Amino acid sequence: MKAVVHYAYGSPDVLKIEEVAKPDVTEDGVLVRIHASSVNPAEWYSVKGLLIARGPNGLFKPKNPRVGGDFSGVVEAVGSKVTDFKVGDEVYGGRSGAFAEYVNVVNAIVRKPANISHEEAAAVPTAALTALQGLRDHGKLKPGDKVLINGAAGGVGTFAVQIAKALGAEVTGVTSTKNVEMVRSLGADHVIDYTREDFTQNGQLYDLFLDIAGTRSWREYKRVLKPNARFVIVGSPKGNQVIGPLSYVLKINFGAVGSSQKVSFFIAQFSREDLSTLREMIEAGKIKPVVEKVYPLHKAADAMRHLGTGHASGKIVLKM
Ligand SMILES: NC(=O)c1ccc[n+]([C@@H]2O[C@H](COP(=O)([O-])OP(=O)(O)OC[C@H]3O[C@@H](n4cnc5c(N)ncnc54)[C@H](OP(=O)(O)O)[C@@H]3O)[C@@H](O)[C@H]2O)c1
Repeated sequence: MKAVVHYAYGSPDVLKIEEVAKPDVTEDGVLVRIHASSVNPAEWYSVKGLLIARGPNGLFKPKNPRVGGDFSGVVEAVGSKVTDFKVGDEVYGGRSGAFAEYVNVVNAIVRKPANISHEEAAAVPTAALTALQGLRDHGKLKPGDKVLINGAAGGVGTFAVQIAKALGAEVTGVTSTKNVEMVRSLGADHVIDYTREDFTQNGQLYDLFLDIAGTRSWREYKRVLKPNARFVIVGSPKGNQVIGPLSYVLKINFGAVGSSQKVSFFIAQFSREDLSTLREMIEAGKIKPVVEKVYPLHKAADAMRHLGTGHASGKIVLKM
């Protein structure tokens, strides 16, 4: 089968497409023929090879050359112990090495939403789980909360706007001019174009701040936070070569020492329950993936370069 691999760390130029062995189905696994996958900053970081992330995958070159996480596809075989899937089921989920034609998946897999394509479904797992867990679990979003989403137009942001609305919030999205109308169309009550207006200076106060873009200092953020607001860090600028985004997380936490607002940072977890919740929200028409562009698998490097600009509008998808 075809798979995307990299034998060195670096720019997307290190990505190649290769013929590799098709995985066998394990007794507790499900063999999925992948129809589509999507690109996330996590893959960008692992290909780049931040020093902090190299430990488990090799200090000088990657021990595991495979790339990818999110997938949507069709079950081709099931292990002898698997009872909840059968051949032909449409499924989506997460598995390392998903920039490939097949994966054997043990846990992070559920039935795909029936009303969207594989390309759309592949856009969901990492980005939408992050948005859901950031708003609901770490942000403790309550109906009626005023929520600010900084970085509303990217993979995580486009889901966050819709999920926050579905959970009953009054949503303000921050984005650049080209994405203002798109973010509004997702249901945001207010959209701030950061190229024209400084959201830290407009006098509005928020209960919950979802910081996906990580563009400002704690001193600036604090101006727009209610006294007991929750500030959830999702992402940040790419940061330095050694610890990457962690430098930003440390800076914000340091700045917030002694503040009444609660700062948290989290790494999204794959959860079958949450993936099922997202499927229900999609099937109920409450959220819909925004796919900016679909690349064929052999153009994975171009897809990664596109994401690496930091200005994707929605998700970048790979089609097998
Ligand atoms: N904690 C976790 O578990 C987790 C999970 C997934 C992702 N992340 C992190 O979250 C971040 C975003 O991920 P993503 O998948 O959404 O990335 P993405 O699809 O590349 O989106 C990035 C978005 O940031 C926006 N942006 C850039 N500069 C901005 C600014 N000054 N103000 C406001 N928005 C700005 C861009 O919109 P414009 O073009 O309009 O500027 C773009 O849409 C990354 O740092 C990623 O590592 C964390």
